[in-house]
Amino acid sequence: MKTVVITGSARGFGYAMLECFYRKGYNVVLCDVNEEEMKKAEEKLSKISSEGSYFSYPMDVTKEEEIRNCIIAVLEKFSTIDIWVNNAGVNQPMDPIWDLDGKVIDRLIDIDLKGTILCSKLIMPIFLKHKSGAIYNVEGYGSNDATMTGLSIYGTAKRAVTYFTEALAKEADDAGGFVQVGKITPGIMITNFISTSMGDGEKIELDEKTKNVYNILGDKPETIAEFMVNKMDQNQKNHAKFTWLTTGRAMGRFIKATFGKKNHYFD
Ligand SMILES: NC(=O)c1ccc[n+]([C@@H]2O[C@H](COP(=O)([O-])OP(=O)(O)OC[C@H]3O[C@@H](n4cnc5c(N)ncnc54)[C@H](O)[C@@H]3O)[C@@H](O)[C@H]2O)c1
Repeated sequence: MKTVVITGSARGFGYAMLECFYRKGYNVVLCDVNEEEMKKAEEKLSKISSEGSYFSYPMDVTKEEEIRNCIIAVLEKFSTIDIWVNNAGVNQPMDPIWDLDGKVIDRLIDIDLKGTILCSKLIMPIFLKHKSGAIYNVEGYGSNDATMTGLSIYGTAKRAVTYFTEALAKEADDAGGFVQVGKITPGIMITNFISTSMGDGEKIELDEKTKNVYNILGDKPETIAEFMVNKMDQNQKNHAKFTWLTTGRAMGRFIKATFGKKNHYFD
């Protein structure tokens, strides 16, 4: 039975992927910094029948010691880890760079970029020792070099996550090719993330234009999670990139919207 660890899996996209893996019979590890949300997630998992088991471990991806202890605890419980998904992430306040508090910048880079680096650094030796394993990193706005006011620091972090993932995949090749490293590009998901900064920080006020774009291009995290989990479950290759919101899909959505076909998340 395979085991998957997903960081930031108490809610949103992380939870949706965790539930999908669990339904497939994987052992799943729920880890997050928000223990209240973790309890809610556990309750949901407890109502699902699966051949796998679930295990909860409170963990902040910015704290090396907590990640290390989490890995030890999961190996004690399930003996192996097969897939590690670096999903934990926060959005930024929609302000230009010069209006952002230095502590907010530090915290965002620590979670969205350094968290992914630290987790990968600590799980990689286990995967190399076992001669198998896969790491998937979640991309986001900025990963493809796009820029917009109010997303500069988040975009910087996600652009770096993309570079980091490619560099790690290369190092995995050079270390024998036993480990797969890939990217998950989810598009726009209707989660807490798009309307709240820094996890559970200040509310982000969305203007009408943005709400309209989200109504056209946005999806529920469950829809995208199912697509991504099927891809991860079947993947055998290093350097994989799984993209939900392709140019074709986005164009199709805009065409349908001209005929009034769109979602109404924000109406
Ligand atoms: N929602 C979108 O439109 C969107 C689009 C592209 C990429 N993403 C990315 O998807 C990922 C998940 O986002 P989401 O939309 O599900 O948001 P979310 O806010 O619903 O979930 C994020 C989870 O990460 C956890 N988390 C935050 N800081 C943490 C830390 N230091 N340690 C451990 N866990 C922590 C939160 O508690 C929360 O459970 C993020 O990496 C985000 O950047 C989201």
